[in-house]
Amino acid sequence: MTGKLRFGILGCGVIGPQHAIALQGLSDTAELVAVADTVPGRAEKLAAEYGCAHHSSLADLLARQDIDAVCVCTPSGMHAQHAMDAIHAGKHVVIEKPVDVQLGVIDALIAAQRATDRKVAVISQHRFDRATQIVHAAAQGGKFGRLTLGTAQVSWWRAQSYYDSGEWRGTWALDGGGALMNQSVHTLDLLQWIMGDITEVCAYTGLLAHERMEVEDTAVATLRFASGALGLLEATTAAYPGLTARLKVHGERGSAVIDNDELMYFHSAPAEQEGAAYGASGGGNQAAEVLGGAASPAGPTAGSDPASLGMTHRDQLMDFISAVNEGGEPLVNVEEARKVVAVILAVYGSARNGGRPTPV
Ligand SMILES: NC(=O)c1ccc[n+]([C@@H]2O[C@H](COP(=O)([O-])OP(=O)(O)OC[C@H]3O[C@@H](n4cnc5c(N)ncnc54)[C@H](O)[C@@H]3O)[C@@H](O)[C@H]2O)c1
Repeated sequence: MTGKLRFGILGCGVIGPQHAIALQGLSDTAELVAVADTVPGRAEKLAAEYGCAHHSSLADLLARQDIDAVCVCTPSGMHAQHAMDAIHAGKHVVIEKPVDVQLGVIDALIAAQRATDRKVAVISQHRFDRATQIVHAAAQGGKFGRLTLGTAQVSWWRAQSYYDSGEWRGTWALDGGGALMNQSVHTLDLLQWIMGDITEVCAYTGLLAHERMEVEDTAVATLRFASGALGLLEATTAAYPGLTARLKVHGERGSAVIDNDELMYFHSAPAEQEGAAYGASGGGNQAAEVLGGAASPAGPTAGSDPASLGMTHRDQLMDFISAVNEGGEPLVNVEEARKVVAVILAVYGSARNGGRPTPV
């Protein structure tokens, strides 16, 4: 394909405008043509800011022949249907996370996509963080030896007003879950990408610091990976005032810790070196070295102000545009994005059964 990829954005709430910011930063290869939202005023406002057209429905957006790709930024439980509508209209699609909240409709989306040559990417923007890329490459390259233990720990806070801010928030049908499906999905996706597939979970969930919602604000789980490694998950939006999202990866020859997207610790034993008898607590931090002597980029944090998200989305949109233009697969396609949803649904299933071991 030659020329710029022409985008439409569906859903102009919190995250839709961040896609507009990200596209603006990619003006050599992308162009925002139109936006749509069913709530009067939202699309008009965003369109006025970016000098593009606006519509009040997906159908009107999809009827445009001058749009090649649509960013689906609607509530989570609408994603797969909206994406399928876009594919059937001949558009490529970027879907916000999670890809959807039920496996059946995700599988229908996979089938719809396979019947076409359209590209679909699902946002997991922190896979593109420098720290994540370093740790993923190290794990894949055997730098930590056999992986033994991985932890995803998301200690965030969301006020009741957040859950009250949209009727879909905190519902099974449209949010698909709470602290885990909406917020901690990011860190769990990174854990699974780095450590490999999760095959079994034992979990508890609770609604502890919020009310008037159907889903959990706190989830804990033990995890078993296909490799035999074990893992832990802590996911909460009930940890006032909100701390960090932390990922820990351990192996027999190395470890890494990412905290709020920054590489805090990295150690990989040289091939010829025998491990010290007891190791050294906190010793041998090679983080600065693997980052090339620079501090970890003080990028936007995973739980921070949504205003900073446009920057972190840009790299993933670049990856999507390359896939469309050059014919490859986006890093996070639908099959890949399905994996974390399957784990989350297994966590909910285990919790409903008193913590019983549940296959993914
Ligand atoms: N990647 C991230 O870091 C990140 C951050 C925030 C939200 N999200 C995801 O983005 C999605 C939206 O979240 P949000 O916080 O922006 O929600 P939001 O409620 O602020 O915005 C959703 C918008 O979609 C519109 N909408 C609903 N149904 C529609 C339809 N049929 N046609 C057109 N517009 C419709 C709503 O009017 C609303 O303006 C969720 O899936 C969420 O998980 C991702």
